[in-house]
Amino acid sequence: ADQNVRNSMACNTLIIGHRGASRDAPENTLASIRLAFEQGADGIEADFRLTGDGRIVCLHDERTARTSDGDLAVAQMSLPELERLDFGSWKGAQWRGERIPTLREILALLPQGKRIYIELKSGTEIVPKLKEELAASGVPAEQVRFLAFDAGLIKAVKEELPAYRACWLTDYRYRNGWRPSHQEIIATLAGCGADGLASSDKGALDSELVRELRQRDLELHVWTVDRARAARRLLLLGVDSIMTNRPGWLRDALGDK
Ligand code: G3P
Ligand code: CA
Repeated sequence: ADQNVRNSMACNTLIIGHRGASRDAPENTLASIRLAFEQGADGIEADFRLTGDGRIVCLHDERTARTSDGDLAVAQMSLPELERLDFGSWKGAQWRGERIPTLREILALLPQGKRIYIELKSGTEIVPKLKEELAASGVPAEQVRFLAFDAGLIKAVKEELPAYRACWLTDYRYRNGWRPSHQEIIATLAGCGADGLASSDKGALDSELVRELRQRDLELHVWTVDRARAARRLLLLGVDSIMTNRPGWLRDALGDK
Protein backbone atom coordinates (compact mmCIF):
# COMPACT_ATOMS: atom_id res chain seq x y z
CA ALA A 1 0.00 0.00 0.00
CA ASP A 2 2.84 2.38 0.83
CA GLN A 3 4.36 1.75 -2.55
CA ASN A 4 1.00 2.60 -4.12
CA VAL A 5 0.74 5.88 -2.22
CA ARG A 6 4.12 6.96 -3.48
CA ASN A 7 3.61 5.73 -7.04
CA SER A 8 0.11 7.11 -7.41
CA MET A 9 1.33 10.54 -6.33
CA ALA A 10 3.99 10.61 -9.04
CA CYS A 11 5.95 11.95 -6.15
CA ASN A 12 8.46 14.71 -6.73
CA THR A 13 9.70 14.87 -3.16
CA LEU A 14 13.46 14.48 -3.12
CA ILE A 15 15.27 12.33 -0.56
CA ILE A 16 18.35 14.16 0.70
CA GLY A 17 21.06 12.49 2.79
CA HIS A 18 21.50 14.60 5.92
CA ARG A 19 25.27 15.00 6.48
CA GLY A 20 25.50 12.28 3.81
CA ALA A 21 24.35 8.82 4.86
CA SER A 22 25.15 9.75 8.43
CA ARG A 23 23.35 6.88 10.14
CA ASP A 24 25.74 4.43 8.44
CA ALA A 25 28.93 6.45 7.91
CA PRO A 26 30.75 9.28 9.71
CA GLU A 27 28.75 12.48 9.10
CA ASN A 28 30.03 15.14 6.72
CA THR A 29 32.83 13.01 5.26
CA LEU A 30 33.40 12.04 1.63
CA ALA A 31 32.63 8.44 2.63
CA SER A 32 29.26 9.47 4.00
CA ILE A 33 28.43 11.54 0.94
CA ARG A 34 29.48 8.84 -1.51
CA LEU A 35 27.44 6.29 0.41
CA ALA A 36 24.34 8.49 0.27
CA PHE A 37 24.57 8.57 -3.52
CA GLU A 38 25.25 4.81 -3.66
CA GLN A 39 22.09 4.37 -1.59
CA GLY A 40 20.13 6.29 -4.20
CA ALA A 41 19.77 9.68 -2.51
CA ASP A 42 18.62 12.53 -4.75
CA GLY A 43 21.09 14.80 -3.00
CA ILE A 44 23.02 15.49 0.16
CA GLU A 45 22.99 18.12 2.86
CA ALA A 46 26.26 19.08 4.56
CA ASP A 47 27.53 21.80 6.90
CA PHE A 48 30.23 24.28 5.92
CA ARG A 49 32.47 26.74 7.72
CA LEU A 50 35.57 28.82 7.06
CA THR A 51 39.00 27.80 8.31
CA GLY A 52 41.56 30.27 9.67
CA ASP A 53 43.32 30.25 6.29
CA GLY A 54 40.14 31.02 4.34
CA ARG A 55 39.18 27.58 3.04
CA ILE A 56 35.66 26.18 3.19
CA VAL A 57 35.48 22.86 5.00
CA CYS A 58 32.64 20.52 5.86
CA LEU A 59 31.97 20.21 9.58
CA HIS A 60 28.90 20.70 11.73
CA ASP A 61 30.46 21.87 15.00
CA GLU A 62 32.71 24.86 15.71
CA ARG A 63 35.25 22.47 17.20
CA THR A 64 36.44 19.10 15.98
CA ALA A 65 36.16 17.15 19.26
CA ARG A 66 32.85 15.32 18.72
CA THR A 67 33.74 13.83 15.34
CA SER A 68 37.53 13.51 15.28
CA ASP A 69 40.52 12.45 17.33
CA GLY A 70 41.50 16.02 18.24
CA ASP A 71 39.95 19.17 19.64
CA LEU A 72 40.60 22.18 17.42
CA ALA A 73 38.60 25.33 16.72
CA VAL A 74 38.03 25.26 12.94
CA ALA A 75 37.99 29.05 12.53
CA GLN A 76 41.47 29.33 14.06
CA MET A 77 43.16 26.48 12.20
CA SER A 78 44.61 26.13 8.74
CA LEU A 79 43.36 23.44 6.36
CA PRO A 80 46.61 21.39 6.63
CA GLU A 81 46.28 21.41 10.44
CA LEU A 82 42.69 20.15 10.23
CA GLU A 83 43.61 17.56 7.62
CA ARG A 84 45.85 15.79 10.14
CA LEU A 85 42.82 14.71 12.17
CA ASP A 86 40.90 11.47 11.73
CA PHE A 87 37.18 12.13 11.23
CA GLY A 88 36.21 8.48 10.74
CA SER A 89 37.31 6.35 13.70
CA TRP A 90 34.71 7.71 16.14
CA LYS A 91 32.07 6.01 13.98
CA GLY A 92 33.91 2.69 13.72
CA ALA A 93 37.35 1.28 12.87
CA GLN A 94 36.39 0.71 9.22
CA TRP A 95 36.17 4.47 8.70
CA ARG A 96 39.63 5.22 10.05
CA GLY A 97 41.53 7.83 8.07
CA GLU A 98 38.56 9.85 6.77
CA ARG A 99 39.73 13.44 6.49
CA ILE A 100 37.80 16.65 6.80
CA PRO A 101 36.49 17.40 3.28
CA THR A 102 36.60 20.76 1.56
CA LEU A 103 33.63 22.19 -0.31
CA ARG A 104 35.76 21.90 -3.44
CA GLU A 105 36.20 18.13 -3.01
CA ILE A 106 32.50 17.63 -2.39
CA LEU A 107 31.44 19.68 -5.41
CA ALA A 108 33.87 17.65 -7.51
CA LEU A 109 32.17 14.37 -6.61
CA LEU A 110 28.59 15.59 -6.99
CA PRO A 111 26.93 13.34 -9.59
CA GLN A 112 25.29 15.03 -12.55
CA GLY A 113 21.78 16.19 -11.73
CA LYS A 114 22.07 15.48 -7.99
CA ARG A 115 21.50 18.14 -5.36
CA ILE A 116 23.81 19.62 -2.77
CA TYR A 117 22.35 21.52 0.18
CA ILE A 118 25.10 23.76 1.50
CA GLU A 119 24.29 24.75 5.05
CA LEU A 120 26.33 27.76 6.10
CA LYS A 121 27.65 27.59 9.65
CA SER A 122 29.99 30.60 9.37
CA GLY A 123 28.92 34.25 9.10
CA THR A 124 28.74 36.47 6.02
CA GLU A 125 32.55 36.40 5.65
CA ILE A 126 32.12 32.99 3.97
CA VAL A 127 30.10 34.42 1.04
CA PRO A 128 32.89 35.77 -1.24
CA LYS A 129 34.81 32.50 -0.95
CA LEU A 130 31.64 30.56 -1.65
CA LYS A 131 31.12 32.53 -4.83
CA GLU A 132 34.64 31.72 -5.97
CA GLU A 133 34.34 28.00 -5.24
CA LEU A 134 30.99 27.61 -6.96
CA ALA A 135 32.12 29.45 -10.06
CA ALA A 136 35.24 27.28 -10.29
CA SER A 137 33.29 24.05 -9.76
CA GLY A 138 31.02 24.44 -12.78
CA VAL A 139 28.13 22.87 -10.80
CA PRO A 140 24.87 24.30 -12.22
CA ALA A 141 22.97 26.58 -9.84
CA GLU A 142 19.85 24.37 -10.08
CA GLN A 143 21.71 21.58 -8.29
CA VAL A 144 22.56 23.83 -5.33
CA ARG A 145 20.52 25.05 -2.37
CA PHE A 146 21.97 27.25 0.36
CA LEU A 147 20.57 26.89 3.86
CA ALA A 148 21.13 29.08 6.93
CA PHE A 149 19.42 29.80 10.24
CA ASP A 150 20.48 33.44 10.04
CA ALA A 151 18.15 35.41 7.76
CA GLY A 152 20.86 38.08 7.41
CA LEU A 153 23.17 35.47 5.92
CA ILE A 154 20.48 34.37 3.45
CA LYS A 155 20.16 38.01 2.41
CA ALA A 156 23.92 38.30 1.85
CA VAL A 157 23.95 35.09 -0.22
CA LYS A 158 21.06 36.28 -2.38
CA GLU A 159 22.82 39.61 -3.00
CA GLU A 160 26.12 38.01 -3.99
CA LEU A 161 24.83 34.87 -5.68
CA PRO A 162 21.41 35.80 -7.10
CA ALA A 163 21.33 32.85 -9.51
CA TYR A 164 21.30 30.38 -6.60
CA ARG A 165 18.36 29.46 -4.37
CA ALA A 166 18.65 29.91 -0.62
CA CYS A 167 16.25 28.71 2.05
CA TRP A 168 15.82 29.91 5.61
CA LEU A 169 16.11 27.28 8.34
CA THR A 170 13.82 27.32 11.31
CA ASP A 171 13.66 25.08 14.34
CA TYR A 172 11.49 26.31 17.18
CA ARG A 173 13.48 24.22 19.68
CA TYR A 174 16.44 26.51 19.07
CA ARG A 175 14.31 29.53 19.88
CA ASN A 176 13.26 28.75 23.44
CA GLY A 177 10.00 27.26 22.28
CA TRP A 178 8.98 30.23 20.13
CA ARG A 179 7.11 28.87 17.13
CA PRO A 180 6.74 31.39 14.31
CA SER A 181 3.24 31.83 12.88
CA HIS A 182 2.69 31.35 9.15
CA GLN A 183 2.66 35.13 8.75
CA GLU A 184 5.97 35.48 10.61
CA ILE A 185 7.54 32.77 8.45
CA ILE A 186 6.35 34.37 5.22
CA ALA A 187 7.50 37.80 6.44
CA THR A 188 10.97 36.49 7.34
CA LEU A 189 11.31 34.78 3.94
CA ALA A 190 10.23 37.95 2.15
CA GLY A 191 12.51 40.13 4.28
CA CYS A 192 15.66 38.24 3.36
CA GLY A 193 14.68 37.30 -0.20
CA ALA A 194 14.71 33.57 0.55
CA ASP A 195 13.47 31.09 -2.02
CA GLY A 196 11.88 28.88 0.60
CA LEU A 197 11.74 27.42 4.06
CA ALA A 198 13.55 24.47 5.59
CA SER A 199 11.91 23.38 8.81
CA SER A 200 12.34 20.70 11.45
CA ASP A 201 9.02 21.57 12.99
CA LYS A 202 7.14 18.67 11.43
CA GLY A 203 4.07 19.03 13.68
CA ALA A 204 3.51 22.62 12.54
CA LEU A 205 3.70 21.84 8.83
CA ASP A 206 0.22 21.64 7.41
CA SER A 207 -1.54 22.03 4.08
CA GLU A 208 -2.34 25.65 4.89
CA LEU A 209 1.35 26.57 5.20
CA VAL A 210 2.16 24.56 2.07
CA ARG A 211 -0.55 26.48 0.20
CA GLU A 212 0.74 29.84 1.43
CA LEU A 213 4.29 28.96 0.36
CA ARG A 214 3.18 27.64 -3.03
CA GLN A 215 1.14 30.78 -3.73
CA ARG A 216 4.39 32.70 -3.44
CA ASP A 217 6.41 30.14 -5.40
CA LEU A 218 8.44 29.27 -2.31
CA GLU A 219 10.05 25.88 -1.62
CA LEU A 220 9.59 23.71 1.47
CA HIS A 221 12.21 21.31 2.78
CA VAL A 222 12.06 19.31 6.01
CA TRP A 223 14.67 17.74 8.30
CA THR A 224 15.41 15.29 9.93
CA VAL A 225 13.00 12.59 8.82
CA ASP A 226 14.15 9.12 9.83
CA ARG A 227 10.76 7.43 10.18
CA ALA A 228 8.61 6.16 7.33
CA ARG A 229 5.35 7.34 8.88
CA ALA A 230 6.53 10.95 9.19
CA ALA A 231 7.95 10.78 5.68
CA ARG A 232 4.66 9.52 4.22
CA ARG A 233 2.77 12.41 5.77
CA LEU A 234 5.25 14.87 4.28
CA LEU A 235 4.99 13.22 0.87
CA LEU A 236 1.23 13.65 1.00
CA LEU A 237 1.72 17.31 1.92
CA GLY A 238 3.88 17.60 -1.18
CA VAL A 239 7.06 18.98 0.38
CA ASP A 240 9.98 19.52 -2.00
CA SER A 241 12.45 17.40 -0.07
CA ILE A 242 13.04 15.50 3.10
CA MET A 243 16.46 15.34 4.69
CA THR A 244 17.20 12.03 6.36
CA ASN A 245 20.18 10.37 8.03
CA ARG A 246 19.04 7.10 6.38
CA PRO A 247 18.49 7.86 2.68
CA GLY A 248 18.78 4.25 1.47
CA TRP A 249 16.51 2.85 4.14
CA LEU A 250 13.92 5.57 3.63
CA ARG A 251 13.91 5.15 -0.09
CA ASP A 252 13.22 1.42 0.33
CA ALA A 253 10.63 2.02 3.03
CA LEU A 254 8.74 4.38 0.74
CA GLY A 255 8.89 1.97 -2.15
CA ASP A 256 10.75 4.38 -4.34
CA LYS A 257 11.43 5.25 -7.38
O1 G3P B 1 20.05 21.80 7.23
C1 G3P B 1 19.12 21.30 8.10
C2 G3P B 1 19.73 20.86 9.39
O2 G3P B 1 20.90 20.16 9.13
C3 G3P B 1 20.01 22.01 10.34
O3 G3P B 1 20.39 21.59 11.61
O4 G3P B 1 22.03 21.23 13.39
O5 G3P B 1 21.57 19.42 11.76
O6 G3P B 1 22.82 21.44 11.04
P1 G3P B 1 21.76 20.90 11.95
CA1 CA C 1 23.01 20.91 8.76
